[in-house]
Amino acid sequence: MLKLSGQGPLYLQLYRAIQQDILTGALISGDQLPASRELAKTLSLSRNVVVQCYEQLASEGYIHSKQGAGSFISDVFIHLDSSMTQESAQIPQPTVEISQNAKSMLPMWEQYRLDLQNPITPKIDFQYGNVGVDHRLEQQLRTNLRNQGAGISPNYQHPAGLIRLREVIAKYVRQYRGVNCRADQILITNGSQEGLTIVAQMLLNPGDSVIMEDPGYRGATQSFKSVSAQISTVNVDRFGLCTEELPVTEGRGSPSHVKLLYTTPSHQFPTGGVMPLERRIALLQWAKSNQVMILEDDYDSEFRYQGPPIESIHGMDDSSQTIYMGTFSKIISPVLRTGFLVLPDQLIEPACAIQWTHNRHSPLVIQQMLGEYLDSVHFIRHLRRMRKRYSERRTVLIEALDEHFGDQIRVHGTNAGIHLTAWTSLPVERESELIQIALDHGLGIHTVTSLYRKTPKNIGLLMGYANLANSEIRKGVKILAQCVKLIDPPPH
Ligand SMILES: Cc1ncc(COP(=O)(O)O)c(C=O)c1O
Repeated sequence: MLKLSGQGPLYLQLYRAIQQDILTGALISGDQLPASRELAKTLSLSRNVVVQCYEQLASEGYIHSKQGAGSFISDVFIHLDSSMTQESAQIPQPTVEISQNAKSMLPMWEQYRLDLQNPITPKIDFQYGNVGVDHRLEQQLRTNLRNQGAGISPNYQHPAGLIRLREVIAKYVRQYRGVNCRADQILITNGSQEGLTIVAQMLLNPGDSVIMEDPGYRGATQSFKSVSAQISTVNVDRFGLCTEELPVTEGRGSPSHVKLLYTTPSHQFPTGGVMPLERRIALLQWAKSNQVMILEDDYDSEFRYQGPPIESIHGMDDSSQTIYMGTFSKIISPVLRTGFLVLPDQLIEPACAIQWTHNRHSPLVIQQMLGEYLDSVHFIRHLRRMRKRYSERRTVLIEALDEHFGDQIRVHGTNAGIHLTAWTSLPVERESELIQIALDHGLGIHTVTSLYRKTPKNIGLLMGYANLANSEIRKGVKILAQCVKLIDPPPH
């Protein structure tokens, strides 16, 4: 019996279920799949969903159809790469034993791969993570890029990155985020994602304990899992990590010792809570007395709309127990793949050693271009422009949600960043249905369910607004309200 995961569009859930049966040998070459109408009836799905799924399986060579006879499992040996054509897939491949590490990474990649491969492009998409298109920025970066290369030695350089960029970043985080650091504490990374992996490799042995927020950022889970760390979680409320729930552990060397705590205090991901000062102090005290390193992910704090700015945890730390992590993915764009770590002195060399092994260093042309840009008036102007634009879009979204849902939706995390969360009163069991109905109406919505350890009761939406015009936001929320109405009331 095919089991759907409950996550994502229905046709992809069905695709994954059938693909899994093929990969595990439950369905073998020559087996016939039920007719789309029949399968739709058995699973209570619309026929369109099954047809879309069969088309996807056929385009990847998993199945083929014989005119008038139906769809059959293809004679396929291995499906490591979706780009393989059917002919090459039929050449027997030697079995390759991949590492436990790679195996643990495959499921998450598989999900992302499918999204990349089947880009669903609804007319309006509240996709989190997209930044606003800004023509002035594009033009400026293009001009800056054209001038790059001059003055850079053609040889390998220091893994920590170009000194000019590190100096500008140090100045920037000192000034705007209260991070107390020197340029030589900065290590340039290929985005925060590489920063996470460097920290994981530097501090964690297999089985070591790391604490994350629940719900939390999957990018961090991936990096910690990649070194076989033991992940435990602490709950989050509207003020971020619940510091009073932090466990008391014994010191280094004891089995209960926690090596690392990962947190997003400026704008908790995904709930958006801003951690108040008392909790920051409590967290630092806990880390000090339990000898735990804190990894502070400050991914989108440049965009702050309400309340006084709160200094980074790093700026309050007088015991060098915090690694501060920043990224240019939100302030500028993820295409730069540039982020940075601010390291305590004793971790500078280990981090450089790891970066040297990963990449030697991040691409120097991008570093040079970024250093120049950050040091120019254009960057500050860009920040001001985007803050104003995002702030407007955020207000439009909040007002539209209020207009169409009133108290039927609870909105959180609006003080900062480029997304908010909105909790509907619909039960989580109806999530796939809502996503599908929205897609059928040209609307992309995304939920927080998979970011929680324990499935929440209601459908919570993660709504990115940075890349949508005000009119699109209004229209999108109106469509969302219509879609919610189309979901049958839950049985009482
Ligand atoms: C919590 C969090 N940290 C960091 C990032 C940025 O990652 P990167 O710098 O690798 O693009 C994101 C992006 O979505 C995020 O949500």
